[in-house]
Amino acid sequence: MAKTQTTFFCKNCGASSAKWVGKCPGCGEWNTFVEEVIVKDKPDFKNTWKKESGARTAKPVLLEDVEKGNEQRIPVQDQELARVLGGGLVPGSVVLIGGEPGIGKSTLLLQVALQFSNKRVLYISGEESETQIKMRADRIPFTNNSCYLFTETSTQKIGKAFNDLDPDIVIVDSIQTLQSDHIDSTAGSISQIKETAGDMIKFAKETGTPVFLIGHITKDGTLAGPKLLEHMVDTVLQFEGDRHHVYRILRSTKNRFGSTNEIGIYEMQPGGLREVSNPSEILISQRDQALSGVAISATLEGMRPLLIETQALVSAAVYGTPQRNSNGYDAKRLNMLLAILEKKCGLRMGMHDVFVNIAGGLRVEDPGIDLSIVAAIVSSYENVPIDNKICFVGEVGLSGEIRAVSRIEQRISEAGKLGFKTVYLSKFNKLPENKSGLTIVEVSKLDELLSFLFG
Ligand code: TYD
Ligand code: MG
Repeated sequence: MAKTQTTFFCKNCGASSAKWVGKCPGCGEWNTFVEEVIVKDKPDFKNTWKKESGARTAKPVLLEDVEKGNEQRIPVQDQELARVLGGGLVPGSVVLIGGEPGIGKSTLLLQVALQFSNKRVLYISGEESETQIKMRADRIPFTNNSCYLFTETSTQKIGKAFNDLDPDIVIVDSIQTLQSDHIDSTAGSISQIKETAGDMIKFAKETGTPVFLIGHITKDGTLAGPKLLEHMVDTVLQFEGDRHHVYRILRSTKNRFGSTNEIGIYEMQPGGLREVSNPSEILISQRDQALSGVAISATLEGMRPLLIETQALVSAAVYGTPQRNSNGYDAKRLNMLLAILEKKCGLRMGMHDVFVNIAGGLRVEDPGIDLSIVAAIVSSYENVPIDNKICFVGEVGLSGEIRAVSRIEQRISEAGKLGFKTVYLSKFNKLPENKSGLTIVEVSKLDELLSFLFG
């Protein structure tokens, strides 16, 4: 009979202990230890790979002697994904993609699998049946004759498939469904995730095969499983967006091979995810005439300039406490802007309900859109529309001063490309010279902006 052994694991950092402890000695968190059963005498994950990357040497080498540039990237057809990965897929890298259920993780990776038309891709699914995946593949307009499906969850069997098939790229949907015979606890438990992710990483590193892992997220939006999982992999991507909107954003939160500043934007369509290469055009709604309560701002998502539409509705408050509601913009920051408008510009915001929205279901954290939010609020308050060829860029400080923002030239040039005529920005944003052909209006204080716009 198998010898049963139990160990306690920390849910947060994955540290283990023979006894239960209240405070994790690894990360210092309280009440994070859970008991899991481990069986030691079962077969281990096979590691007799046909392919050897030779990337690992058995003895220490001098840093100087390590050859540069042997990290040839595998080109990725999906330009949005390629950008987020830092310019292609690094051999032997492990990429973890997290996101809410139904956001499109499986769709994205199946699409990626089908786009590698000249590569042998192994798509392992512990979540869906072969027919379900086939049905999804039929909706996607790409085909790959060497894409294999394997609906299996045991890493021992998966290891065998790796040996038989010798895949060029592996996709695992999802890491929480994998199970190692080595460990007796249920799939998705900390020890299983630690073990199975370790197996997949071992395969990736020893053979130089890139592996994508799909990860579930918990209620509070973090990746389910031990934090350790994020430390183990090379790249962590977050697939996010509002399920009721069609736009999805792929963001990297960790990348050993590139910057974490890049984002990819997709549109969910009946035929899969479409790359959105020019997001500004779709985020600004088409309107014939200027409406009150709408202002456009140029923000940055990663390194990309992006024009967004900020909308506000200000109406007389019916209840004693006015309502403030914000979609896509920090609610605390909105309260701050309203307090500044009340105190510095004499607008009676305390008597009004204020609703703010960023069009397209986007969430923007860049303070550079403050100026546009203020313009939209005052436009709705005064019921005076703002010319739809004006773009606003600037951060608002507590005393109503308008502060400079980063990468102003890029923002201005994006506005220029989309046919804007005027940009309002901070006086302190020193522009070397204005080559854009746009009219630049420099403002240093909020009341200056208001008198320019509304007289
Ligand atoms: P899915 O990839 O299953 O999400 P996840 O793996 O993150 O849970 O995507 C689910 C949603 O995507 C589903 O509600 C339907 C939608 N969808 C489309 O709109 N078009 C498509 O072509 C596909 C395949 C899915
Ligand atoms: Mg899925």
